[in-house]
Amino acid sequence: MEIRASKRIQSLSGYPFAEIDRMASELRIGGFDPIDFGVGDPTEPTPDIVRKAVQAGVDARASAGYPSYVGDRSFRAAVAAWMEQRFNVRLDPETEVCATIGSKEAVFNFPNAILDPGDVVLCPSPGYPPYNRGTLFAGGEPWYYPVTMENGFLPNLDALPAEVLARARMIWVNYPNSPSGTVAPDDFWPALIEWAHSHRLIIGSDEAYTEVWFNRPPKSILEFGRDGIIVFQSLSKRSNMTCHRVGWVCGDPRLVSLFKKLKTNIDSGTATFIQDGAVAALSDQAHVDAMREVYRAKRDILIPALRDVGCVVPDSEATLYLWPKVPEGMDGLEFATRLLSRDVAIVCTPGAALGEPLADGTSPGRFHARFALVPSVEDCCRAAERIRKAFGRI
Ligand SMILES: Cc1ncc(COP(=O)(O)O)c(C=O)c1O
Repeated sequence: MEIRASKRIQSLSGYPFAEIDRMASELRIGGFDPIDFGVGDPTEPTPDIVRKAVQAGVDARASAGYPSYVGDRSFRAAVAAWMEQRFNVRLDPETEVCATIGSKEAVFNFPNAILDPGDVVLCPSPGYPPYNRGTLFAGGEPWYYPVTMENGFLPNLDALPAEVLARARMIWVNYPNSPSGTVAPDDFWPALIEWAHSHRLIIGSDEAYTEVWFNRPPKSILEFGRDGIIVFQSLSKRSNMTCHRVGWVCGDPRLVSLFKKLKTNIDSGTATFIQDGAVAALSDQAHVDAMREVYRAKRDILIPALRDVGCVVPDSEATLYLWPKVPEGMDGLEFATRLLSRDVAIVCTPGAALGEPLADGTSPGRFHARFALVPSVEDCCRAAERIRKAFGRI
């Protein structure tokens, strides 16, 4: 029998850097153990306190049945308490918080709750792929705004064309920003909210990285307003819980309510024993402080090496990523390929893989590469030495 993929699945571009993958696996097969800065998946263990709470939850909830679609009351209350303590934002756990199976499902699915065919969603480029993929699957049209060094990695709201804004329903923003590591300045938020209200746009604020910061704790958009705003939070990076799949949405109760309605039709909620682990994670700050210091150490090892070989590297105020502009005379793909040679054996992601082309066909990430600071501190030291050697700086 012939199997035919849907037009939508067929229309999705494949992974554009198959060549990088091929070279990395060739290195592994050849016995070279590449230092892998590719995927932003923390390699430090999930904290003990979280693992213990999950284990206890499995037994305590032996006959608990399906989880709550929207999250157990204990989880929603813990989220509300944490949001108040961290951001001084008071939320009603009944109407303004809903559990998610990690941010990815929520980011991908949310547009289904608000889009009609042909509606436009403004997405950052480079940016997290589910912003645009979720829009496409909901029948909407992504429109990409550039997030580049030239504009301080912030959207240039005044540059968005009026005809696009007339059809737009929503804008995605992501601060602290992946991949650039930028923390939005405080005056960005009220300006964004005022602008979005004037164009009747919903704001989806992806705040997955608010806890991975180095200088000052980033703000949440909810410190500046709630009307028409929905925040997507996650414990994946704060508490090394990528495997557990737990996060939440919060904000304008009308948007949270639409999300809940959507969610009851899509999935059956986050496992309740995982929510027990999340409650334990939210009650503890020590592991978060320790996590930050590890990323800071890695950042401080790698940035000087990248600068020594001619990269322009923003200081990375937050997140687990570095986003160097690669040395003059090469693009991100050439730089990544050079690092993948046998004598260097380092994997990073060429920037063009992380961004969709803009309306004029240019790719904002083309001259960048992304380093996810997930190898150990020791491996970061080895990588720094290899990078310097590769470009004749030792
Ligand atoms: C910008 C951004 N948002 C959201 C997520 C989703 O995280 P999760 O689905 O693990 O909660 C990620 C994961 O890497 C991300 O980079």
